[in-house]
Amino acid sequence: MMELQTVRYGEDGLFILDTTKLPRNLEYIKMETVEECFDAIRTLKVRGAPAIGVAAAYALVLAAEEARQTSYEEFYEDFKRAKDYLAKSRPTAVNLFWALDRIDRMVQKHRGESPHRLRTAIIDEADRIKQEDVEMCRKIGEHGLTLLSDGMAILTHCNTGVLAASRYGTAIAPVYLAKERGTNIKVFADETRPLLQGARLTSYELFHSGVDVTLICDNMAAMVMKNKWVQAVFIGCDRIAANGDVANKIGTYGLAVLAKHHGIPFYSVGPTSTIDMEIATGDEIPIEERGAEEIIYGLGYQIAPEDVKVYNPAFDVTPNELITGIITEKGIVRPPFRENLAKLFAE
Ligand code: MRU
Repeated sequence: MMELQTVRYGEDGLFILDTTKLPRNLEYIKMETVEECFDAIRTLKVRGAPAIGVAAAYALVLAAEEARQTSYEEFYEDFKRAKDYLAKSRPTAVNLFWALDRIDRMVQKHRGESPHRLRTAIIDEADRIKQEDVEMCRKIGEHGLTLLSDGMAILTHCNTGVLAASRYGTAIAPVYLAKERGTNIKVFADETRPLLQGARLTSYELFHSGVDVTLICDNMAAMVMKNKWVQAVFIGCDRIAANGDVANKIGTYGLAVLAKHHGIPFYSVGPTSTIDMEIATGDEIPIEERGAEEIIYGLGYQIAPEDVKVYNPAFDVTPNELITGIITEKGIVRPPFRENLAKLFAE
């Protein structure tokens, strides 16, 4: 597995791997301000639900530095403003809000302490979020691997590997764990229009990690399934509603319909921080709509009339009845999802 760090914080500051430059350049950029962090998340320099959560957590370290250092009250007012601002960077992946709220709760618990001590506490909490992400992804990989065996092939969409998390990734974690243990799982990776995360990121990281990966255009998935070249579909998730409906990269819903038709099991894979028990069904999940230029200039040059009408949702919602199971760090949740997800949180 490529040992890449999507987000790195140390004495020299906060750095993110600019995934928009891949596969041509492997470039880390230094984040100097909260505004730069906001921009990095909004423009997908750092993306993928778990990595967004980690980036947002460290962005709050910069927020703590920018805040007034006078008193707890004034510090907290500025900190909270920065937190609310960061929460507007992207609407769908719940990990963003989960990480921001977790740090906010921790700061409030330290009410009355000096801004200097609060900054240290925020660094510690962000470090914990990152470390827990690594551990969670490993556990997700272990559970996912129980469904796979040597020589099997999966189809995946978008990017859910090391470039979307802190290590291993989510839907791709079983593939990396298998590789570590000398078992080979083949991957068919959808290129994932319009921003090509599958081509630019998934095929890049798997290819350089020595995984048998085949890149396909999104419209080839039906053929691959019909040919029986894949035995399962593993996709990530940006938010899961309490009834098991899954919001994930646009195109996921279509894949789930195809998988159902071909009798192929369809798994959504992600940490429990992606499950939003406050949302009853997928209809309530806010779906990000992005600019027309991503489609008109999506391949780096103009491919459609400048002013043509464009519909560009970044995510879709797959209804729970198309989902075979949800693989989390706590185990595999199967239907009925409403009951079984509630049980998972009650444990
Ligand atoms: O728009 P992106 O690139 O952030 O979309 C990412 C996805 O849809 C992933 O499948 C999801 O975040 C899972 S991350 C492991």
